[in-house]
Amino acid sequence: MNLWPNELLRRLRSAGHVTVLTGAGISAESGIPTFRDAQTGLWARYTPQELATPQAFAQNPERVWQWYTWRRSLITSAQPNAGHRALAALERQASGFTLITQNIDGLHQAAGSRQVIELHGSIHRVRCLEAGHRFPWPEEDTAAPPPCPTCGSPLRPDVVWFGEALPTPALEAAFQAARRCDVFLSIGTSAIVQPAAQLPLIAQEHGALLIEINPQPTPLTPLADACIAAPAGTALPQLVQMLTGRRET
Ligand code: OAD
Repeated sequence: MNLWPNELLRRLRSAGHVTVLTGAGISAESGIPTFRDAQTGLWARYTPQELATPQAFAQNPERVWQWYTWRRSLITSAQPNAGHRALAALERQASGFTLITQNIDGLHQAAGSRQVIELHGSIHRVRCLEAGHRFPWPEEDTAAPPPCPTCGSPLRPDVVWFGEALPTPALEAAFQAARRCDVFLSIGTSAIVQPAAQLPLIAQEHGALLIEINPQPTPLTPLADACIAAPAGTALPQLVQMLTGRRET
């Protein structure tokens, strides 16, 4: 089935700059649960909103550390999917392209995307609580957060938790890319977590065509210029094929 009307393809072909925002939905087809899907197994009784907070880490650092260790084990055994690969292909052929992600899984980079703005940090790094020293995630699994090798304060995942500010350079680059683009693609995000949820609207206010790719409706759906109601792993490879004539596998 052709998901991409000619008018959208025409706008994408003539766009000087395309900006893309991705959320957990793009990694769903790699087997990584999204945030607002029901979780299974050991962690089913906790919601991310209860664990991904500075308060949760202060009250029970072991539990938060073990939850991230579990999430990281899911991520390190996952592979990028056809949606990630198609975005890497779009970056290679576009005249101007910015990829912004709310994901911490690193799968865009693993698929070959070269420039990725990570709004919510990365699960592949830790930083210490007191001085902010950054390191790769420790190789050895531990039940409690290990101490910082430099200053001894506990290490935490280098990700943004609820109630925390986003990294300023990433946020500024993301807003700039939203303001300057001709087409904005919002992919696999429930479009409710701020400030990322503002980006598509800012792009539209600045004249961009706003396209959403999501099998489910979101608060953005009635505002978008077009919605492709299909999984990213189907819609994006088809888009690349229609734009370039090449099939990405
Ligand atoms: P959500 O879990 O809120 O939303 C995932 C979206 O992906 C939903 O709208 C699904 O319909 C959609 N989806 C599922 N499968 C899909 C597929 N195959 N293709 C395309 N879309 C699909 O995840 P996010 O919007 O990323 O923040 O959540 C935003 C932020 O909330 C996260 O970065 C995280 C969380 O709290 C922090 O941790 C700071």
